[in-house]
Amino acid sequence: MNLSIESVINAKLKTAFEKLGLDSKFAVVKMSDRPDLSDLQCNGALALAKSERKNPREIAGLIAGELEQDKSFAKISVDGPGFINLSLADEFLGELMDGIGADDRLGCAKTNKPQNIVIDSGGPNVAKSMHIGHLRPAVIGEAIRRLEKFIGHNVISDVHFGDWGTPMGMIISEVMDLHPDWPYFDDNKKDGFPATAPYTVAEVTELYKKASARCKEDEKAREKARIITAKFQDGHPGYRALWQHLRDVSVDAVKKIYDELDVNFDLWLGESDAHQTCYEIMDIAKAKGLLEKDDGAEIIRLEEGAKPKPPVILEKSDGGFTYAATDIATIKMRVDDLKAEEIIYVTDLRQSLHFEQVFEASKMLGICPDTKLVHIGFGTVNGKDGKPFKTRDGGVMNLEDLIKMSKEAVRKTMPKAEDVTGYTQAEIDKMSDEITIAAIKFQDLKNNIASGYIFSLEDFARFDGKTGPYIQYAIARINSIIRKAQEAGIKTGKVKLSNAEERALALKIAQFGNVVERAAIEKEPSIISEFVYNLAQSFSSFYNASPIVNANDNELASSRLQLARITRDMLKQLLYLLGINAPEVMLKSTAGESGE
Ligand code: ARG
Repeated sequence: MNLSIESVINAKLKTAFEKLGLDSKFAVVKMSDRPDLSDLQCNGALALAKSERKNPREIAGLIAGELEQDKSFAKISVDGPGFINLSLADEFLGELMDGIGADDRLGCAKTNKPQNIVIDSGGPNVAKSMHIGHLRPAVIGEAIRRLEKFIGHNVISDVHFGDWGTPMGMIISEVMDLHPDWPYFDDNKKDGFPATAPYTVAEVTELYKKASARCKEDEKAREKARIITAKFQDGHPGYRALWQHLRDVSVDAVKKIYDELDVNFDLWLGESDAHQTCYEIMDIAKAKGLLEKDDGAEIIRLEEGAKPKPPVILEKSDGGFTYAATDIATIKMRVDDLKAEEIIYVTDLRQSLHFEQVFEASKMLGICPDTKLVHIGFGTVNGKDGKPFKTRDGGVMNLEDLIKMSKEAVRKTMPKAEDVTGYTQAEIDKMSDEITIAAIKFQDLKNNIASGYIFSLEDFARFDGKTGPYIQYAIARINSIIRKAQEAGIKTGKVKLSNAEERALALKIAQFGNVVERAAIEKEPSIISEFVYNLAQSFSSFYNASPIVNANDNELASSRLQLARITRDMLKQLLYLLGINAPEVMLKSTAGESGE
């Protein structure tokens, strides 16, 4: 059911516009910029003035006159050059609350055009530990996945593992030097390779570090790795068996981190899965006359357009397919196999040009004529110096370490089991970890995606700031308010607005559907984080002014309890959309004073 306030009022305006013979395209309201003067505003009359050849104030007057008969409005006025200001009747707002309270989607409509959306927001690489650069795609991708799903789209998320290319050859070469006796290197051996991995992920990571350092310095080592890569890509059974082990231990390690962050992928495909399709892409490019040889490489030239773009290289002069070729082939597979109508990539802004090139080439190749391709580029996670976040000694910050550090920072602020009654240390630790993940994710999602942010272990879990734990705490507090009211025998009932704070809260609640829809359309989770914060604050003011157990009026108490329940469910749903869990009860950390 679509019970979001803007949609409900737009429908009323549409009827009025149609009655007056006005183009209903302009029958749209927005929340008022001056909430002290009105709830909503429609600027349609200004837009209509030209085509109607009338003074906008006159048109606004006609519309206002038409709306006057509707009891939903308490006040309608035409202001300035022709703005229509609308304020809603309390009774109408109360009924809207009853409807939202009875709807399990809290008034947010599902799309009537469900689409197949593929989200590519993982991108971890085999044999390399996940680092700080993998945090944002995971967190943002998960929020967008949940958002699009909630709107009613059919969403498939794919981790798109970096499991192909020269790094694989480099590692295999390194292993070969260390263990020449292992059965994987014999060109004639076709099967019978060990089923279990001969190394752990930590060993693999070390191997890669050594291999890449060696290849940087030593031309011979590079050449050897290149030959192995080519053989491995051609299907050398032993190399492939060794690679499968590499991939398996890496996937296990990566899954552990994603699980910890509560980030979920439907598909665990990788660049390797696109290899075969790369040949098809070459064929298509050839058949369309798009392929050009340039200095030994196979390229597609792109239209210059407003800004000159370098050509896409599909195959390097040494015969290997490129990162771009893999991405183009993957688009074809997603369109053919998954019937993707939209593909969303979440990566660092610095890959913007790569995706512009890949998208343009894919359209030229005709492999995705009806598929919308979207790149969401994010800014970096920075340290206090404003530069990308590093370890103390200036190295790349490992993601596992970052999570560990964050957990430790939060645990330090939590009470110990001996200081509180009713909780075991294990329960407190679990709560503390949930707070940590909320803190990490909310800190990431509270700013526009495109802007970077400063990772702060001091402020991210404060209970009195714009943080995940603040919202989690607000939810736990409402849980306790509801419990106490129920213990006092109060039941939820129809919403009747009796004071300004109740009204302000109701107006917030009524925006839920539009906010969620806008966040999904703009693919901008910060719209949700901003709203969830404002809603929590509205509740706080509401509760300060509107006691429930001490309301001295049964109907009022029931109405307020219902508002509390709706707010709690909405806050939980909003946090869920951001990928954050809300514990039923919360012990307060001492990281910051509660804002309540
Ligand atoms: N593995 C890549 C990296 O670490 C990111 C992959 C992003 N997704 C894609 N389809 N290119 O840079």
